[in-house]
Parts: sequence; C-alpha cells; structure tokens
Amino acid sequence: MNTLRLLIVDDDPRMRESCSLVLDGLRITMPWLPDEYALKVLFAGTAEEAKGIIEAGPVDLLLLDQRLPGMQGTDLLAYIVEKELDLQTVMITGNASLDTALNATRNGASEILAKPFTPEELRLSVTKAARFLILQRIAAKLDEERKKTRFEFISVLSHELKSPLAAVTGYLDMLRNRTLGDDLVAYDSCVERSLLRLEGMRRLIIDMLDLTRIESGIKVRTMAVHNLADIAADMIDGVRAQAAKRGITISPDLPDVAVKVDRVELEIVLNNLLTNAIKYNKEGGAVALTGQRIGHALKIQCRDTGIGMSPEETEKLFKEFTRIRNENTKHILGNGLGLSIVKKIVALYDGEVSVESRQGEGSVFTVILPGIIT
Ligand SMILES: Nc1ncnc2c1ncn2[C@@H]1O[C@H](COP(=O)(O)OP(=O)(O)O)[C@@H](O)[C@H]1O
Ligand SMILES: [Mg+2]
Repeated sequence: MNTLRLLIVDDDPRMRESCSLVLDGLRITMPWLPDEYALKVLFAGTAEEAKGIIEAGPVDLLLLDQRLPGMQGTDLLAYIVEKELDLQTVMITGNASLDTALNATRNGASEILAKPFTPEELRLSVTKAARFLILQRIAAKLDEERKKTRFEFISVLSHELKSPLAAVTGYLDMLRNRTLGDDLVAYDSCVERSLLRLEGMRRLIIDMLDLTRIESGIKVRTMAVHNLADIAADMIDGVRAQAAKRGITISPDLPDVAVKVDRVELEIVLNNLLTNAIKYNKEGGAVALTGQRIGHALKIQCRDTGIGMSPEETEKLFKEFTRIRNENTKHILGNGLGLSIVKKIVALYDGEVSVESRQGEGSVFTVILPGIIT
C-alpha cells in the first residue's frame, strides 16, 4: 500500500482532530490503477509550523485553513507556488463566496472547501486533490521516460551514422594520399566498400524515417482492399536477385484473398521478413512464405533454412537496433531496425509477431493480422 502524507494546518485543535478522524481510514484509488493509497496525517497549528514540516518534507497533500494566526493560509500557498513544491492543497475557507474560491484556485489551491462542511465533502475534496497529484506524478514520470528513450535512440542512431562516415572518409583519405600507389585499379575495393557503407547509411535513414513516422502517428494510413498474393509476389520479385546471388530459392504459398491494409505497411513487413530470411540463410538455402486465413485474420509465416538463433538470442529481438552478433552474422550488413518496425506496424493492426528458431537449422517468423480479411 502506498502512503500519501497529508498535513492538516488549522489553529483549532478540535477541527484538526475531527478532520483527522474522517481522513484516517480513507483509501484513495484510481479507476484504472491497481494501486491504493492511504493517508498519513500530520498536524500544524500555524502556517509557520507547517512551513517547517513541509521543508523537512515530504508532504504530499495540504489541508489548509485560510484564516490563521500570524502567517495566513494564502501566504503559505504563495510560498508553495513560488518554490514549485510537488504537493496539492485543499483550502478551507470561511465563506463560500465565488470570489474567495476563485482567488484560492488562482493562487494554487486545487480544491476549495467552504465551512461548514460534511465529512463526505471533506473526503471528496481530499480524494480529488490526491488523484490530481497522483496523475501529475505519473505524467511527469512518463515524460521523463519518453525523454530518456528518445535520447538513447538518438545516441545509437548517431553512432550508427558516424561509423559509415568514418569508413568512407578513411577510404577517401587513402585515395587522396595515393596510399596504394598511382594505379586507380588498386582502389577498386575501397570504392566498392565505400558504396556498400553508403548504401547501409541510406537504408538506415529510410528505416529511421519509417519508424518515426509510424511512432508519431503522423503517417497518413491509406486502408484499401488489395489482393494478398499480388502484394507478396511483388515483394518476392524485389528480393529475387538478392536471393539468386546466394542460390536461395523462395517459394510462396499464399491464398488468393482480399485484405484490407495500408499497402506500404504490409510491404514493409513482408520485405523485412524476406530480406532477413535471405540474409541470414545459408548458401543454397530455402525460404517459404505462406499465408493462411483464420476467420477474419491472416497468418503469415516466413520460414528459412538459415543460421537460426538460440532461445536467448530470439528473446532480444524486435527491439530497436538489436542485432545478434556472432561469427555467422559478422559480415552481414544490417542496422537492427527492421524487426522493430515490423513489430510497430503489426501493433497498428492489433496483431502479433513472434519467432521460433533453432540454431543452425533455421527460423520461422509468424505475423498475425486480425480483422483484415472481410
Ligand atoms: N531469419 C533470421 N534468421 C536468423 N537471424 C535473424 C533472422 N531475422 C533476424 N535475425 C536476427 O535479428 C536481428 C535483427 O533483425 P532486423 O531488425 O531485421 O535488423 P537487421 O537485419 O538490419 O540486422 C538481425 O541482426 C539478426 O541477427
Ligand atoms: Mg533486417
């Protein structure tokens, strides 16, 4: 059970006592959170005393009488606002005039409670202020996490963009300084490798744009009815040359069904699964792309006879920039964004993507897209 510390500031000891009695057993819940919050009640007879307790902290909620001997409730409120303290105030006022209420809320109170009030009114005001406080804290935490994730993403991205730049710069330097002599032919492999690194960089930029567009929700989705087998055939055509170079065969087996999708999204998914199945395959291996209708859902599987992965390795998949690094993958170009993009797209359809793999034998990636077959 979580506890919120509530400070009652009132010069009347009977008032402090009765409020405390009402609030002692109060449990604060949020409609969509399993957590429950209890209150730990503290007391102060003056605003000065309250200030000391707040400074010693932490205080989460304040039940504050406006009228106090010496420093007034409103002065304490002004102090809290100025110091940007993370607490919410329920202000108790002597009269219920609109003016008083407006003033208090304008000055930073989250709730106004006019005397005389019932126990139920007290519970309600404190509950409202507490919920507001909890929500604010959750929002702040989410914002912090978002900033951190974004920073991590940009750090890795910068690193991934810097390394091809460094490689190409190195090759150009060799050329400028005629490191390999005056015969241009000697530099062929440098040029070849530079082009390869630049291609990797181009892919990374495209993938990153796809990813940020999907994530931001800015991308306009064009849902239309397409023939699944046609889209798959197009995507297979696109990777046939890459497969042929390594003697890999691709066999499609997809039903002739109409699917309602954003064509580009489905193309990105299929293309990523197919290129992976080719890249991480063995010479002369095979790739099978199958589709199966399950009610209104479509189950796509991409099966390969490639290098496969261990259970520990498959656990790490689908996160940004995840690549399995070992002897087998060392020379394979990639940026580790493809599967994270697949996962995000599949999520747009409330679908699922999963993998089953055996080291040295091959992998099967399964994508389920519910509701796309009408
Ligand atoms: N079919 C597959 N067989 C074996 N390993 C795979 C397969 N598909 C993906 N992987 C592993 O998952 C990692 C992440 O894949 P992906 O996100 O597409 O990035 P990339 O292909 O650019 O490295 C790859 O680096 C590879 O280690
Ligand atoms: Mg890939």
